[in-house]
Formats: sequence, C-alpha cells, structure tokens
Amino acid sequence: MELEQLYRKCRATAEEIYRKFDASHDLDHINRVMKNAIDISVREPLANEFIIKLSVLLHDIEDAKYKLEDTLSVREILEMHEADEILIDRVIACIDSVSFSGGNEKAITSIEGAIIRDADRLDAIGAIGIARAFTFGGARGRKLYDANEEARAKMSEEDYRKKRTATVTHFHEKLLLLKELMVTAEGKRLAKERHEFMVAFLEQLDREIGMGKDSVWT
Ligand code: ADP
Ligand code: NI
Repeated sequence: MELEQLYRKCRATAEEIYRKFDASHDLDHINRVMKNAIDISVREPLANEFIIKLSVLLHDIEDAKYKLEDTLSVREILEMHEADEILIDRVIACIDSVSFSGGNEKAITSIEGAIIRDADRLDAIGAIGIARAFTFGGARGRKLYDANEEARAKMSEEDYRKKRTATVTHFHEKLLLLKELMVTAEGKRLAKERHEFMVAFLEQLDREIGMGKDSVWT
C-alpha cells in the first residue's frame, strides 16, 4: 500500500482516539512531537522518516493513563489499514521505548526510537511542559503542590502510576530528570534551554508561595 495513504488512514483513526484525551495529550501534542522529531531527524541522516511519522502519530494510543477497555491497540490500527508486518514491528518497537514509566523505561533499539523518545520528552519540559503538567494534574484533580510530599527517587512503574502526586512533585520525580536522559545530540541541545526555564519557574513559584516553609498563619 502507498505509504502516504496508510499514514492518512491511521491518522483518521488516531484522531478519533486522541479526541477523548485531555489537552495534555491531545492532537496538538502529537503535532508538536512531530515537529520536534523532524527537527532532530534533520541531524540524523540514517533515520527512516516514515517510521518516525507513523510512530509519533500512534505513540500515545495505548498510554495506560488513558486506555479504555475497547481502545484499539497500535497493532490493531496498523493491521486494520493493511500495513506490512515488518513495518508494524518496527513501529511498535519504537513506541515501546518511549515511555518514562517512573524511570523503568525500556531500552532503545533503533535510531527512530531514540528520536521519538527525545521528541516526546522535549514536549514534557520547558514552557509547554509546565502547561501540560498542570493541565494533566487539573484533569485528574491533583493538588498544584504539596510541601509535605517527598519526591521519590526510585520507584516501580506500578508505584509511579498509582500515586496521585501533586504536580510540583511530578517535576522532581520526572520532568527535571529528562534533560540528562536525552539520547540524541540535538535532543540534548534543545532540552537545555527548556530545562533552565523550568528551574526558573520553580524558583519563582517558591519565592511567591514559599513552598518549603510552614506559614505562620496556619
Ligand atoms: P510516560 O508515558 O512517558 O511514562 P508520564 O506518565 O510520566 O509519561 O506522563 C506524561 C506527561 O503527563 C508528563 O510529561 C506530564 O505532562 C503529565 N503527567 C504525568 N503524570 C503527572 C503527574 N503526576 N502530575 C502532573 N503531570 C503529570
Ligand atoms: Ni506523548
């Protein structure tokens, strides 16, 4: 099947599914990750553009935070649109290594996998990362911050998913760690400025609300 046609069909199916996610993981997230992936792949001539495009498009479909019992799997979507078996395996391998999973991420097995993971993580940090984190926290009824909550350094994937942490705690458990976990040279370079902006944001937040200190009024 013609590749562009396959992409268009998968896109239509994916759009239906992402429409049900909150604004932290909507189609605009997919579009931004696509742009990040293109920016990184310009410097990675060995990477296959089509594998990247299709993997970015489908990378959040099976996200455990959103998946409903009847949500189609990535494999089902690709098979439904008659994608080649080899292509399906390559896309699924890329998507499998994207998730942070509380630090329990799976090893990267291809250059395309590295690019997609970095592209997704760039969208988790910086100004857009801040906006997304508070949006996710809001959608799940989480606290903005909790001075009494300890950020965990190492945890199982189950513990990471289970605990309803305040959003500022999530910065310490994940977002501030991502800069060091970038894989591609361009990803590392792009992460730097975004990381510094998050640090400045947290410092300003602390100046405004004195998160660390007990208020004399309580
Ligand atoms: P992954 O799917 O890579 O394991 P996460 O589950 O850590 O990723 O979350 C993806 C994005 O969802 C984060 O970058 C953040 O924007 C948001 N998010 C996830 N968990 C939280 C949380 N506890 N508080 C605030 N935002 C969160
Ligand atoms: Ni994502």
